[in-house]
Amino acid sequence: MDIRIRAMDDAADRAGFTCGVEALDAWLRQQAGQAQRRRLASVWIASPAAHPERIAGYYSLAPWQVAFEDCPEDLRRGLPRYPIPVILIARLAVASDRQGKGLGGILLVDALQRAGAASGLVPVQAVLVHAKDERAAGFYAHYGFQRFPRQRFVLFLPMATAARLASAR
Ligand SMILES: CC(C)(COP(=O)(O)OP(=O)(O)OC[C@H]1O[C@@H](n2cnc3c(N)ncnc32)[C@H](O)[C@@H]1OP(=O)(O)O)[C@@H](O)C(=O)NCCC(=O)NCCS
Repeated sequence: MDIRIRAMDDAADRAGFTCGVEALDAWLRQQAGQAQRRRLASVWIASPAAHPERIAGYYSLAPWQVAFEDCPEDLRRGLPRYPIPVILIARLAVASDRQGKGLGGILLVDALQRAGAASGLVPVQAVLVHAKDERAAGFYAHYGFQRFPRQRFVLFLPMATAARLASAR
């Protein structure tokens, strides 16, 4: 799979992307540009090398924090009782015709690498995701993400684990 990942730009055909989840398609079409311009999130797209205008998959990253009281013990151990800073994988999706062929994993590892690089400059404790359903949560759990005890669709990967996973791939 000759795929290149880059920051979303105007050359990308956002309207042509469909992953089977309307909310994720609509966000890319209608909100991703503004989120990126206003620096609320960074958006990264994967395209076939021969067709840089096509979007095979995308993800976005954003700064986030979690209330100390909501965090699992593994995440808050040894930390003061303040909100805990994390990097959120705010969205991640693969085009319907490319699902099940490894691209989701490639995007996730790419996201962890960028999160790791960012946390080298401004430390955060973990990478967090809000999975939209059990299937998505299963995908993240497959890579070692742990569930919040009382919010089963919120999952995290401690930053040290994320860095190890990213460097092993
Ligand atoms: C979830 C999604 C991103 C996965 O991407 P994908 O390209 O289909 O997944 P991949 O082929 O890269 O799978 C990578 C690995 O994860 C595993 N995996 C994929 N989905 C899984 C699931 N639901 N549960 C457990 N493991 C899963 C695969 O078996 C594979 O394992 P391997 O590397 O050991 O062979 C994709 O199906 C998608 O975009 N779905 C619609 C949008 C969505 O639900 N996004 C989640 C954001 S909340």
